[in-house]
Amino acid sequence: MSDQKFSATILITGANGQLGKEIKILSKKIPVYQFLFTSKEELSIDNTESVKLFFEKHHIDYCVNCAAYTAVDKAESEKEKAFLINADAVGSLAKNCNENKVKLIHISTDYVYDDSSEIPLKEDAAVGPVNVYGLSKLKGEQLALEQNPTTLIIRTSWVYSSFGNNFVKTMLRLFKEKDEINVVNDQLGSPTYAADLADAIIEFIRQMENGKTFSGIVNYSNEGVTTWYQFAEEIKELFHSTCKISPIPTSAYKTPAKRPLYSVLDTSKIRKLLEISIPSWKESLKTCIEVLKAS
Ligand SMILES: NC(=O)c1ccc[n+]([C@@H]2O[C@H](COP(=O)([O-])OP(=O)(O)OC[C@H]3O[C@@H](n4cnc5c(N)ncnc54)[C@H](OP(=O)(O)O)[C@@H]3O)[C@@H](O)[C@H]2O)c1
Repeated sequence: MSDQKFSATILITGANGQLGKEIKILSKKIPVYQFLFTSKEELSIDNTESVKLFFEKHHIDYCVNCAAYTAVDKAESEKEKAFLINADAVGSLAKNCNENKVKLIHISTDYVYDDSSEIPLKEDAAVGPVNVYGLSKLKGEQLALEQNPTTLIIRTSWVYSSFGNNFVKTMLRLFKEKDEINVVNDQLGSPTYAADLADAIIEFIRQMENGKTFSGIVNYSNEGVTTWYQFAEEIKELFHSTCKISPIPTSAYKTPAKRPLYSVLDTSKIRKLLEISIPSWKESLKTCIEVLKAS
């Protein structure tokens, strides 16, 4: 098939992750774009030579970097690997994008922010990661902008989908296995349904194809604020589970990596830029649970 048919070619790295898979589903509804989905096995972003060759071989207009080292706790003991994938590889991807005139859309995290805020975090709020994963993602943002100042960075939070490992799926498993569980109730944040984030990414591309330009940092999460405990209660209700959930403080749930206490994202910038409204977390959770029930 010739490239002529498509108005743009979009490379999706880390395509077997939660976000990559949601973009893949969405791509079926957008025949106007050609998508190149690459898994870690097909294109490892930390393999500098492979990345360079890939960009030389394919004509690409946009690269959406969904590839990341996302094992937050493991990162504490695998610092080098986390920085290799989340920082160095992102810098080199940005360099290749710059050299080949490819627009880079890079996905980052709420974990880059300082967690001492009490108001939703705007893009210019202070950074100050509390763990290795957050530090590696922050370095990745810095390298991406250094190597390619036109990079668009989307910071997102508490991502879940019907794919992969995430809080929603962990809760569903625990509801089946246990009669009673404890869930942390003093970390505040906003869940993000990966399918909604995929929509926003494609909307950015659609508007760029229509002549708009976007770069720098934007936040994206579903609307509303919750705690992991309240999130779990909502999942329980939607799944009609009888498991008893008890709220506990973070201090009672020890993990290798510290978690930010506050990571609520202010999404006014992206809503204004794209002229979109964002579904509430409860509404999108319902959608995801329906997808899971149907599968
Ligand atoms: N999940 C969250 O709660 C969350 C929150 C905030 C921000 N984010 C960010 O959102 C983005 C998407 O996250 P996600 O939830 O979709 O993550 P995910 O499900 O863990 O997907 C990441 C994908 O990247 C792949 N990968 C790892 N190393 C790679 C490499 N060197 N080259 C190419 N691919 C590689 C992974 O493969 P393997 O699984 O085989 O390693 C996985 O398929 C990431 O940038 C993440 O940091 C996620």
